[in-house]
Amino acid sequence: MRTDTGQIFRIEDYRPSDYLIPETRLTFRLDPEATVVIAELVIERRPGVAPSTPLVLEGDGLVLRRVEIDGKPAGKQSFEVEPNRLTLLRPPAAKRFRIVIETLVDPSANTTLMGLYRSSGIYCTQCEAEGFRRITYFLDRPDVLSVYTVRIEADAASEPLLLSNGNPGETGPLPGGRHFAVWHDPHPKPSYLFALVAGDLGVVDDSFVTASGRKVALGVYVEHGKEDRALYAMDSLIRSMRWDEEAFGCEYDLDVFNIVAVSDFNMGAMENKGLNIFNDKYVLADAETATDGDYANIEAIVAHEYFHNWTGNRITCRDWFQLCLKEGLTVYRDHEFSADQRSRPVKRISEVRTLRAHQFPEDQGPLAHPVRPRRYREINNFYTATVYEKGAEVVRMIRTILGPAIFRQGMDLYFERHDGQAVTIEDFLAAFQDISGRDLTQFALWYHQAGTPNLSVSTTYDATAQTFTLEIEQSVPPTPSESRKRLMHIPLAFGLVGADGVDMRWTTVDGATVEDGVIHVRKRRHAVRFSGMATRPVVSLNRGFSAPVTLSVERPRDDLVFLARHDGDGFSRWQAFNTLATDALIGAFRSSLGGKPSGFPSEIATLAVAFAADGALEPAYRALALTLPGEADIAREIGANIDPDIIHGTRAELARTIAEANAATFGELYEALSTDEGFTPDAAGAGRRALRNTLLDYLSLLPGGAALAARHFSRATNMTDMAAALGVLTQRHPGNDRTQSALAAFERRFSDNPLVMDKWFQIQASVPGPGTVEAVEALTRHPAYSTLNPNRVRSLVGTFSSANQTAFHRPDGAGYRFFAATVLDVDGRNPQLAARLATALRSWRSLEAVRRDHARTALLSISSTEGLSTDLRDIVERTLA
Ligand code: BES
Ligand code: ZN
Repeated sequence: MRTDTGQIFRIEDYRPSDYLIPETRLTFRLDPEATVVIAELVIERRPGVAPSTPLVLEGDGLVLRRVEIDGKPAGKQSFEVEPNRLTLLRPPAAKRFRIVIETLVDPSANTTLMGLYRSSGIYCTQCEAEGFRRITYFLDRPDVLSVYTVRIEADAASEPLLLSNGNPGETGPLPGGRHFAVWHDPHPKPSYLFALVAGDLGVVDDSFVTASGRKVALGVYVEHGKEDRALYAMDSLIRSMRWDEEAFGCEYDLDVFNIVAVSDFNMGAMENKGLNIFNDKYVLADAETATDGDYANIEAIVAHEYFHNWTGNRITCRDWFQLCLKEGLTVYRDHEFSADQRSRPVKRISEVRTLRAHQFPEDQGPLAHPVRPRRYREINNFYTATVYEKGAEVVRMIRTILGPAIFRQGMDLYFERHDGQAVTIEDFLAAFQDISGRDLTQFALWYHQAGTPNLSVSTTYDATAQTFTLEIEQSVPPTPSESRKRLMHIPLAFGLVGADGVDMRWTTVDGATVEDGVIHVRKRRHAVRFSGMATRPVVSLNRGFSAPVTLSVERPRDDLVFLARHDGDGFSRWQAFNTLATDALIGAFRSSLGGKPSGFPSEIATLAVAFAADGALEPAYRALALTLPGEADIAREIGANIDPDIIHGTRAELARTIAEANAATFGELYEALSTDEGFTPDAAGAGRRALRNTLLDYLSLLPGGAALAARHFSRATNMTDMAAALGVLTQRHPGNDRTQSALAAFERRFSDNPLVMDKWFQIQASVPGPGTVEAVEALTRHPAYSTLNPNRVRSLVGTFSSANQTAFHRPDGAGYRFFAATVLDVDGRNPQLAARLATALRSWRSLEAVRRDHARTALLSISSTEGLSTDLRDIVERTLA
């Protein structure tokens, strides 16, 4: 494992490397404990670099066996080996020369899941961001692009399948029951996109003919016997390939495209050129074992990794500070794909909920950083919601500002200009500036400045002058990266809704540029005045969530009620109701704190049933409208002195109030949705199930509710309904016998399916209340649990710490102590996983004093431990800073 050097990498220190590696030939002699890697590299000195300048190659945990320079063994004095690097002290003065490096690695002992490792008997690799240096010494940086030829040698019986990037070449037998295969990737690529897989796997194959007529052989590789569960992933891949041609003009560029599912994987999936490697959780699905949510994730992640072929692989990042160049842009693309495959407003609401749940707290806490960070200690810790989700929002805003046609032309120009290059955010923005002739300098602050901007808005209507005025003021709170903020360019989509529910027209507007329903907020204060308003409109702001900001709007509650009924923008209509519910919950929280619990405004229950019963709305949308803000959402809105127990109680109370007021209608709707039409994983079927399961949640709060949920569970014919019923039982009736027997039945039925057992762990880790600390601790000793498998750890400990407010934040600190011990234990084997888990404590400062003290003590107990990984030390120290 890498030792912490305490080194900080800064963007201003970037300089191109002295040498390039135009060609890379790798030979792998695979062996479980002693794999030999021979790297034959063509090295080229960059123009202007002095001949014989030392060549410094990165390495990590490698055993060096030999070095050759231009065909001759390198003398001991000609190089220096250190744990982290190999330096050729006086390389040949020629512009081009060749070196051979032979290293030895132990895939079986590799528990970090970076570099070459084994997962359930399969050899596989993960090289992003800096894992290639765990395979051989190399210029392991994204701006060094090389053409790779890979020869894999392995046992023919145990590893019949040998895969790498690019197109397949020669194959054949070798002495001793071994065999080999050669792969060649003609597209120059950075080392982080290298991949190798060897093992015995089943396959689903298919093919795709590209727009220009290239026939591509497609394969999805999974454990033998699970092929049927890979069909949806294959279907998603084919739809992604077609969509990228239609939406972005991007065609695939090799003869084969393979996806391999492995069961031990730190992330969701990885876009290695022509050989994507996936966490099996994002490949395998059938009705019995996967929920609608799982299907949607598979579709989105298959698409995301495929889309990287152009946004990431053909055009890659100059350095890791530019990570959002590929990740933010590719998330934007996968969002658009899913919106086209499913329902656009439903998708948009889900995206915003995710952004607020993950990115807003990051931006408002000690780990805040710009979409393009300027410094890092450990790059693995920058695969964040800010880089990904806010990065995607920034791309979406470019489209909002330029309009769809110019945006597409800008993308075309970007692809054309930079194909085959490693580039920066400035290059990306320049394509849009050049195509549109617009100045995006102020807009670029979205990449450089951390923190969630706030817009304060108040309105005035002058009936005599028939004018309606919006006073808008922007502010950006200070964050650890910058204490003083500059003014941003915020594209604020809006509508002025008339009494009839239809958007009103105005005759003139002044105070800001307004184009195509978007106010361009650029100054600190704008007074935007609309004339020709015969009646007072109700303003709908940030339609479609056009900018990732918070809003503080001064307005009567009736305006929100009106928008929740009439806003023509689906997102904003949902938002209006969500804001009403949030305000009601915060009001009740405050009066509980003051010792005087209060009720809830009656229009919440009235609106809830109006949404539920509105047949003109899609069922999935109705389900989202009926979903109350989560406990973490409420905590974030309250901001300080959080008591999770009070929030939990308040939220449960509002749910009960809504259920009691609407018992009859909810019951009828639930029954009407109960006719089983058979399972298909499409958006329409998923929407009906989502609505029915949301109604079940409410109905479970009424007399007979536990029996109803138990019946829902036992009659379920698919995992969506089964997991939903188990969730309702455990959340709403944790102590009930029916709940215990449902949990036991689920365990008996799925004990041999680890991915389904993950749901069982997740559901139990989410049970509210103090007893869950001990329950989760006990589950770490369950036979299906493994502290070595990231999916198991995330399902149990990850869910407990990031999605269970009352148990994790138990007032006596027991949740934090268990958590700290687990994080330290995981860190010894898998630093990346430990560091990710540890981010669950990032909002510790907003807790009330007793919990805050316990949380701080737990963080200090981690940071004072010796031998922490760089990954974990970086997170814990920034969290405490
Ligand atoms: N390139 C990443 C995978 C990755 C992340 C590798 C961090 C190394 C370190 C991949 O494209 C990705 O972003 N995967 C996401 C899923 C995606 C749908 C957002 C993931 O793994 O969570
Ligand atoms: Zn990605």
